[in-house]
Amino acid sequence: SHVASLQQPGKPSVFSSDDEYADLDWDNLGFSIKPADYMYTMKCSKHENFKQGQLSRYANIELSPSAAVLNYGQGVYEGTKAYRTEDGRILLFRPDLNASRMKIGAERMCMPSPSVDQFVDAVKQIALANKRWVPPPGKGTLYIRPLLIGSGPVLGLGPAPEYTFLAYASPVGNYFKEGSAPLNLYIEEEFVRAAPGGAGGVKAISNYAPVLKALIRAKSRGFSDVLYLDSVNRKNVEEVSSCNIFVVKGNVISTPATNGTILEGITRRSVIEIARDYGYQVEERVIPVDELINADQVFCTGTAVVVAPVGSITYQNKRVEFKTGSRSVYQELYSTLVGIQTGVIEDKKGWTVEV
Ligand code: COI
Repeated sequence: SHVASLQQPGKPSVFSSDDEYADLDWDNLGFSIKPADYMYTMKCSKHENFKQGQLSRYANIELSPSAAVLNYGQGVYEGTKAYRTEDGRILLFRPDLNASRMKIGAERMCMPSPSVDQFVDAVKQIALANKRWVPPPGKGTLYIRPLLIGSGPVLGLGPAPEYTFLAYASPVGNYFKEGSAPLNLYIEEEFVRAAPGGAGGVKAISNYAPVLKALIRAKSRGFSDVLYLDSVNRKNVEEVSSCNIFVVKGNVISTPATNGTILEGITRRSVIEIARDYGYQVEERVIPVDELINADQVFCTGTAVVVAPVGSITYQNKRVEFKTGSRSVYQELYSTLVGIQTGVIEDKKGWTVEV
């Protein structure tokens, strides 16, 4: 196997890959980097296609100081998770959608990308090689982070001559320090996340550092995360720094339509489908902030965030509270989604992939 071939002959591995579990405090995972043993690397030059990749021990990588990703931010990333079922199987959730989203993002950022099969194969290899880092059922998941970067050198602004696809993994628990408690969101009025014609609709690495200013400021005031408004009218709801947003009013669940400034979330798309199955009317459209403020319930979705209830939103110094708790819409959608992801609910949609 790929794992065994990494061991040098005559030298025992520094860890026992036969151990069922890595030595970790599985009860307090949170969302910080605890690198799993192996990463995956695959390179190609401009105008070429990716060929064979390989696993190696997780380690620092070597990059030219003039790498396009370092100087001009030419890069996209993905996030996907591996789940351990009660009967010990390892499942992935719709990794083909991460693969096609990376393809679309790569095209936007003028990069070649792995084929869907190459991407899914890399994610499977990462999950399998790092199996002992997949948390026990109920304790968390193995978060897999595929990256595609312009690794070749440039000086003038232009696409890199060489590209590197990487994937690494870390076990994670709850994304927010609040755990599964309701989030308190802050509506940002000074900064925006994305503008029409920009790259807000794809997972460009360059979409994330610019929100840190607003995020740090809101966190220092006790908020969980920031909700951004549209850059043109500063009136319509867009998304949160780390996730998409949904509003519930009666039997109608609405979420901002993806028009190029909103990230095409895989959890977003899955939750829309689950909600429709349950008989909710789901609308993807423009949502004015006034409508959000008057919603019955609000929740967020994302791979890292999963489905998280919103307890309050603060806008123009006014705090509005929302219904949360066990009988809310979010709870119904959360348990169905996580049930499918972890093999507790039969996957009739073909969303899960066993590794
Ligand atoms: C994810 O949900 O996987 C993301 O990429 C969001 C990131 C801020 C953790």
